[in-house]
Amino acid sequence: MSANPSVALYPWTIHLWIIRTLGRERLDYLISNTMNTVTEKISRFFWSYDCKAKIMAIRRETADTLTFELLPNQHFKQPLPGQHVEIKVAIAPSGEVVTRCYTLSHIQDDTVAITVKRQAGGKLSCWLHDQARVGDILTISSPRGQFNYHGQRKLVFICAGSGITPCFAILNALRLDSRQPDIGFFYRTTTPENAIFRQSLEHLSGSQKIVFSYSRQPVAGVSEKPLAEQLMDTFPDLNERHIFLCGPQGFHDAVVDTLTKIGFDFNYLTVEKFSSQAHSFALATNLSEDITVTLKSQNVSFRIRAQDSHKTLLESAESQGVHLEHGCRSGMCGTCRTHLLEGRVTGNQLGKSIYPCTAYPASTSIVLE
Ligand code: FES
Repeated sequence: MSANPSVALYPWTIHLWIIRTLGRERLDYLISNTMNTVTEKISRFFWSYDCKAKIMAIRRETADTLTFELLPNQHFKQPLPGQHVEIKVAIAPSGEVVTRCYTLSHIQDDTVAITVKRQAGGKLSCWLHDQARVGDILTISSPRGQFNYHGQRKLVFICAGSGITPCFAILNALRLDSRQPDIGFFYRTTTPENAIFRQSLEHLSGSQKIVFSYSRQPVAGVSEKPLAEQLMDTFPDLNERHIFLCGPQGFHDAVVDTLTKIGFDFNYLTVEKFSSQAHSFALATNLSEDITVTLKSQNVSFRIRAQDSHKTLLESAESQGVHLEHGCRSGMCGTCRTHLLEGRVTGNQLGKSIYPCTAYPASTSIVLE
């Protein structure tokens, strides 16, 4: 990768033209009926059973953050703003296959974008920063995740660092939304230079309440105060807003702490966590009796033996052949979030919202939404 990878050309317009002309659905039909060893060699982008995405452009956002504009092939399903995808790359020379989740920071008719901060020692983020080129083909998953807007009238995005990406995607989508909700945006990072999408946000600040908070360069009247005070001063009506929270674990915990103190109803909180490290959640209490878990929406129950109570609810469901939607399996993406209707769990829980990938049974009868 060159020192300045701000390439905004479209050398692969033929692929874009084909997708625009035929549409992904018709293309899927045509390709699946012409798949053979010859056509596979013509284009491994279209004639593939996998979802692929071609890098169309690379833009620099900050010194350590790049945006990759991607053109997915016909297998890709239209995403919702706030969703993420899994990117899979075989890293040369070892060929080690590395998979990571990245939120879609922009969604357009034909293309999507991911915005990637270089993580020290991060295999995929470093590969994307140092090796990826315009024209490269990546393996990509279909969009997933529950960090989505559902028509809330009054909301606020509270984000930090790279956690801005899903919030920014939703904010952009809401600009075109006829419902015109009351939106607040609070973005915490180290310095103005490290603020991702700063210019776009400044541009929007005329019509939306957008507040920057810098930990290493206090803004007069804002970031010189403790985080809890900053939030309350900026949004005195925090308790009346639906909160979209996304950021590193420490930031997440500080915000949740503030919300707990003001008696915030966690049913109005939508969370996604960003971290380069797995977070460890509290483990299960050892139960001496078997546990019954009921999934009300699926009208399904399954049993967990007492000796398996150290397994997560997701692992136990899977071992019983019960499907629970999930993504990262580490309490980060929010895909598995559900509501605890009866019983108790330990681990990853916010009010009545629980994350089965990192939650454990703590009572012998558990009813989930
Ligand atoms: S939070 Fe990602 S799967 Fe549970």
